[in-house]
Amino acid sequence: MVEIIDIAEGAGNEIAGKPIVAALESGAVLRLARPSFVLSEEERGLVARGMGAGMAKNVSYSQESVTLKGTPAQGAERALLAGMLARYADYGVALLREIAPSYISGLKMGRTSFRPVEIADRETSWRKDDRRLHVDAFPSTPTGGARILRLFLNIDQAGRPRCWRVGPDFEAYATRFLPHVPRAWPGAASLLAALHITKTRRTRYDQIMLGLHDAAKADMGWQANAPARAVDFLPGQAWMAFTDQVPHAAMSGCNALEQSFYVSPDVLACPASSPLAVLSRLTGRDLTRPLF
Ligand code: SIN
Ligand code: FE
Repeated sequence: MVEIIDIAEGAGNEIAGKPIVAALESGAVLRLARPSFVLSEEERGLVARGMGAGMAKNVSYSQESVTLKGTPAQGAERALLAGMLARYADYGVALLREIAPSYISGLKMGRTSFRPVEIADRETSWRKDDRRLHVDAFPSTPTGGARILRLFLNIDQAGRPRCWRVGPDFEAYATRFLPHVPRAWPGAASLLAALHITKTRRTRYDQIMLGLHDAAKADMGWQANAPARAVDFLPGQAWMAFTDQVPHAAMSGCNALEQSFYVSPDVLACPASSPLAVLSRLTGRDLTRPLF
């Protein structure tokens, strides 16, 4: 069972005498009932106006290049949106400095996103359908074993919870779907990189993580009966998890902020419980080498 652990901002980097990073790396979801990040009145108005209708799934912001994508908003509205996302990115780093200081030296910022579209009735392909349980693995962004840590915040102004299912644990997920991961064909990784489909060369690890993601989403029998629990995140609540480890499905909800971080394997507190370690053990292979 995936654990949901309530933590409080300002209470340091331990929970019940144990480092918070150990809880995260064991595959728990951390929930913050009262995050200090709050929207301004203008931002609340922007969210309440329903930016989402008929739009892309995400408005995304890059702190690195200071660019905003996925919205037709212009002028003052665009600036307000960019400002909210920039502030949320800063908040995410400040939160990690407090609760997971050991990660800071191995941290890379990923994208910041605003998710204005109702999940329950979004039309999408099965592979992109996040209402199906999966662990995150991105076709264009191989991590090579760096971890995907994500911080969400429900900013809905109409009281709607964001309803997730989480579970089972990573080892059960991997054991179940490893036999269904297709073998990579020779030359695949170099070709994908040469065609700029991937930003860097895929490793065996990346290929297996993608294969697990697809096999899990394709198995509707498992989706219906998997040992997963439902958890609702209420407006105003934030939550954080290694989404490359915790099987999750977002079933319904509208208006969330999300910040992705990549955490280097070098700064993990319990590298032995990482997906890379679990998959290396289950396959008996070195998965860190690039595919050819
Ligand atoms: C996902 O990572 O699968 C989507 C989560 C969400 O938007 O709540
Ligand atoms: Fe996901």
